[in-house]
Amino acid sequence: MEKKTFYITTPIYYPSGNAHIGHSYCTVASDAIARYRRMQGYDVMFLTGTDEHGLKIEQKAEAEGVTPKQYVDKIVANFQKLWKLLNVSNDRFIRTTDDYHVKAVQKIFRELYDRGDIYKGKYDGWYCTPCESFWTETQLKDGKCPDCGREVKWAEEEAYFFRLSKYADRILKLYEEHPEFIQPESRKNEMIAFIKQGLQDLCVSRTSFTWGIPVDFDPKHVVYVWVDALTNYITAMGYGSDDDSDYKKYWPADVHFVGKEIVRFHTIIWPAMLMALDLPLPKQVYGHGWLLFGDGTKMSKSKGNVVDPNILCERYGVDAIRYFLLREIPFGSDGVFTNEALIARINSDLANDLGNLVSRTTAMVQKYFGGEIPAERESDPLDDELIAMASALREKCDKAIDGYQFSAALTEIWKLVARSNKYIDETMPWALGKDETKRARLAAVMYNLCESLRIVSILIAPFMPDTTPRIQKQLGLSGGAVTYESAAVWGATPAGTVVEKGETLFPRIDVEKEIEALNALIPNPMEQKAEEKKPKIEGLAQIGIEDFGKVELRAAKILACEPVKKAKKLLKLTLDDGEGERTVASGIAKWYKPEELVGKTVVLVANLKPATLCGVESQGMILAADAGEDDVKVVFLEGVPAGARVR
Ligand code: ME8
Ligand code: MG
Repeated sequence: MEKKTFYITTPIYYPSGNAHIGHSYCTVASDAIARYRRMQGYDVMFLTGTDEHGLKIEQKAEAEGVTPKQYVDKIVANFQKLWKLLNVSNDRFIRTTDDYHVKAVQKIFRELYDRGDIYKGKYDGWYCTPCESFWTETQLKDGKCPDCGREVKWAEEEAYFFRLSKYADRILKLYEEHPEFIQPESRKNEMIAFIKQGLQDLCVSRTSFTWGIPVDFDPKHVVYVWVDALTNYITAMGYGSDDDSDYKKYWPADVHFVGKEIVRFHTIIWPAMLMALDLPLPKQVYGHGWLLFGDGTKMSKSKGNVVDPNILCERYGVDAIRYFLLREIPFGSDGVFTNEALIARINSDLANDLGNLVSRTTAMVQKYFGGEIPAERESDPLDDELIAMASALREKCDKAIDGYQFSAALTEIWKLVARSNKYIDETMPWALGKDETKRARLAAVMYNLCESLRIVSILIAPFMPDTTPRIQKQLGLSGGAVTYESAAVWGATPAGTVVEKGETLFPRIDVEKEIEALNALIPNPMEQKAEEKKPKIEGLAQIGIEDFGKVELRAAKILACEPVKKAKKLLKLTLDDGEGERTVASGIAKWYKPEELVGKTVVLVANLKPATLCGVESQGMILAADAGEDDVKVVFLEGVPAGARVR
């Protein structure tokens, strides 16, 4: 019988900067699923790749004085190297600069044009270069890109449009008929709201730059990078090429894993494109959360604050990093990445719980039985809970994995690890070892521990592929005793198995020393940046909001201004404070002429006790900033009426 297929994809990443821990997160998660499904006997297709066109790449290359292709080649190699290091088992790697992809995209574009779903028009709108997205006025948030918060600029061009609006109802129906299509659930509501606010036709070509796939029948246009990118999921399978047998075999994809910020592209534009082409839709889009820094900012290439996975792997081993990424944060939620949390996990879960269990168990089997557990074994009701838990583990993992809940699967596995450690305390093998009459009982205890570990070693393989053989080697296991099938069978360790204590799996880390070393190696680039730009500022002691609330700041308009005869430094200001006039003396004569100030609105500290300065009674003060050495700038307000409260 033919194996069931399973097709999973990651986003294709922009090679606009080196791969970082955020990309690793999605790729490792996809890899764990691919490995799990292979283990279950599926014929798996696991695709990842790079999204290489677009203005941003063109600009980056130009800044480095190389061609866009030279620029991406170098970074793509870095991505590929990292995936190798992280043990990523992708079956294919697509680059959107690959010839077959370019041709297929041109074909798809033409097909959509011929069908009337792409038409020529004129575009104007607000464009966000880093996001490669056009926005309407109403979509902007505080005048900035609603996705990334950066500046947008007005752009106008003749362009091709995709009739996205036509598909709004069908997409809503898709969500309704396939509630599993968008996961997690909460993201679906966002998408429904987005569609209901009205879908515009999508601008799908650009003439403002050239680094893209030319529209073959109108080559001054290049294909919009998202149209180019989304199609990768089918072109990589041969759609639009001569040999499309893999497309026929694997499409539709079982799941697209994507970060939550690009769910919209995958659950609105992508299905609409496929509908327009009359092609089957992917079965599911899973929008995972973000890895954040401790300060709550997202790691991203464009912000320059990235953690280097190469360094982490080198120090702790690949499996420790994979484990941390998959265990620490429930898939779908955001999570904070800190070195402290990483090391805490390594020490507690890996060194203490799993590592110790393996080393204690194998050491005892060697000590008491020379490595070979005797066949004569005496059971005890004390064993029942452990055996029941181990026997049920595979099913629990399967379920968690079906819902892409890595953390839940690993939590279940670690429950068995903890239960096994507790079992050692309960059965006290060191006491049994002293009593010759308890040999059969001791043998049973050892066997049960080895069995639990055998099951653990099989089920962690998709998450920690290097650790599995290291444990199985110590347990003396191979072949039928380490299959997925055998993970649901208690007692599959064959007679005559020889256990051999081996190297420590996960050395304990000295937290303090390591954090220091790590921080030196991977300075938080956010901090680093701040330090580069700014000298250290001697701050004041912290205050509460109630303290700040005692200061009454008010907008005040300067009605008149004159020098003070007796004091060269002072200007005497007459202010409209919203209620009436008041006089303020300010030491700004060196930087402002009176006529420059009249008519301006400033910030007045309105409840400051009056003071007499060089004969002038000053009823408050106005705010000014130290703009440099011996330079002062008054804080001016625009469009604020006199008397307005400033908070
Ligand atoms: O969006 N936390 O590429 P991209 C978690 N080329 N995941 C993160 C992350 C973080 N801090 N940073 C990145 C693109 N990711 C397009 C995709 S697909 C047809 C085109 C992961 O290089 C996450 O999966 O910006 C996110 O969606 C993806 O990298 C975006 O990578
Ligand atoms: Mg991005």
